[in-house]
Amino acid sequence: MLKVELGDFDYAKIVPLSDLHIGDLDFDEKILLKYLKQAEEDNCFILLNGDMIEMATKDSVGDIYGQVLSSEKQYDKLGDLLTPYKHKILVATEGNHEYRQYKNTGLSSKRFYASLNIPFYPDEAWLKITVGRKKKNNKPVAYSVYMIHGHGGGRRTGSKANRLEDLGNGRFADLFIRSHTHWQMIFPDTYEMPNMYADRIRKVPRLFVNTGCFVGSRYAIRHEYKKSTLGTPLIYLNGREKRIKAEVSVEAVYEKR
Ligand SMILES: [Fe+2]
Ligand SMILES: [Fe+2]
Repeated sequence: MLKVELGDFDYAKIVPLSDLHIGDLDFDEKILLKYLKQAEEDNCFILLNGDMIEMATKDSVGDIYGQVLSSEKQYDKLGDLLTPYKHKILVATEGNHEYRQYKNTGLSSKRFYASLNIPFYPDEAWLKITVGRKKKNNKPVAYSVYMIHGHGGGRRTGSKANRLEDLGNGRFADLFIRSHTHWQMIFPDTYEMPNMYADRIRKVPRLFVNTGCFVGSRYAIRHEYKKSTLGTPLIYLNGREKRIKAEVSVEAVYEKR
């Protein structure tokens, strides 16, 4: 478990970024920059949850001929975009597009993230994030976070939601973050825990967040998927009492097609 102390803020804003697909012709740098720039605010931090690069190879489902940057240049571009904010990036995982590189070459993104000093967990990340001080006892507010890129999701919103909800089967976290489906989604549930000392049932809220994407709709059109809304949800961790809020943000996009 990675322990992260964010500092004494009323709240911390978390921007979970994934599915940039740098190298794809439809990668939308302008919209990504709007999200990255938020990390200039003291209390704003970034998570990276995979598919940062396209990494189409000759035997992958990705469009190797539609790729506009070589694999090496995709990492160069990602490095250029992340470097100004690297001190605000809490952790990085890998998606299926980075895993493709590992499967073909044995090389992961480990060295890339090490060069930026960003903690790297290729498969899944468990975090303990502390922020602020509780009003009632002056202790830091601690949040458990489970983050994974994910695999599969189906065509319809409901099937994507099922995959997100499944993260909560067999594990507890205050916040679950999944990506891969390019579909912004937020919902809560309640986890009941017996308190054997107080002889009561404690109902603990959990929040499920699916991150969005920063790549246009050509892939979706070809595969008859619903087209995604670009952007990603913003998550707010309260630093005075234990409470999480999240919001989806919608961006208007003009595509040449
Ligand atoms: Fe993706
Ligand atoms: Fe993916």
